[in-house]
Amino acid sequence: MNERDSMSRRRFVVGASGLALAGATGAAAAQTANKTNKKGSKLAIDGGAKTVKAKCSAKPRWGEPERKQLEAMLKQNSLFYWRGPQTKLLKERFHEFCPVKYVQTCSSGTAALHIAVAAAGIGLGDEVITAPVTDIGTVIGVLYQQAVPVFADLGKGTHNLDVSDVERRITPKTKAIIAVHLTGNPCDLDALKALADRHNLVLIEDCAQAWGAKYRGRPIGTVGHIACFSL
Ligand SMILES: Cc1ncc(COP(=O)(O)O)c(C=O)c1O
Repeated sequence: MNERDSMSRRRFVVGASGLALAGATGAAAAQTANKTNKKGSKLAIDGGAKTVKAKCSAKPRWGEPERKQLEAMLKQNSLFYWRGPQTKLLKERFHEFCPVKYVQTCSSGTAALHIAVAAAGIGLGDEVITAPVTDIGTVIGVLYQQAVPVFADLGKGTHNLDVSDVERRITPKTKAIIAVHLTGNPCDLDALKALADRHNLVLIEDCAQAWGAKYRGRPIGTVGHIACFSL
């Protein structure tokens, strides 16, 4: 593509997205035009008084401690060294927080779950029972291994795996259960572990959303056969 072509493409894209935005704001304006609030005064968007007058504070998200750490990493002259001091420290601190036999770092929660599924020997046509409400990272590794995610019902009020429904979905092809501790709320791990042991299944804990959560006094990640976290 020569420079002129690329320029005209770029102009087209800019022009087109401008149009889309104009269309959207036009529609929004039409929707709110002449609307009033309950007291009959104009909405703030139409020039009326604002209900919430305080401004959102824009506190800096990073400060001196982060700057110091970043500087230390730059000085080490290698940012992506997986045997580097930061990785070692992370593993040590993680181990204090989640005292399991082995701790290994990898590139993401999705990668951790994929490694777990592969380590459990899951492959073509195997079934893995998990939760339907989760991040796609829970099932990517299962699909990559050409296995089948089987979605169990969630418990009323907990939005975590309903253990009796998990049991109903066990077939001769089932190899593992991935228990997702949704939004910091631990699954019923004792019941799931007992079920997994009874059927010779691997229990994988997806702890990505539940850092620091405890199940009956034990840190999550210490009950299942394998546990995966996300940073
Ligand atoms: C429940 C759950 N599992 C897995 C993942 C994937 O983790 P990552 O984004 O680090 O790949 C997430 C990410 O938010 C998650 O919420």
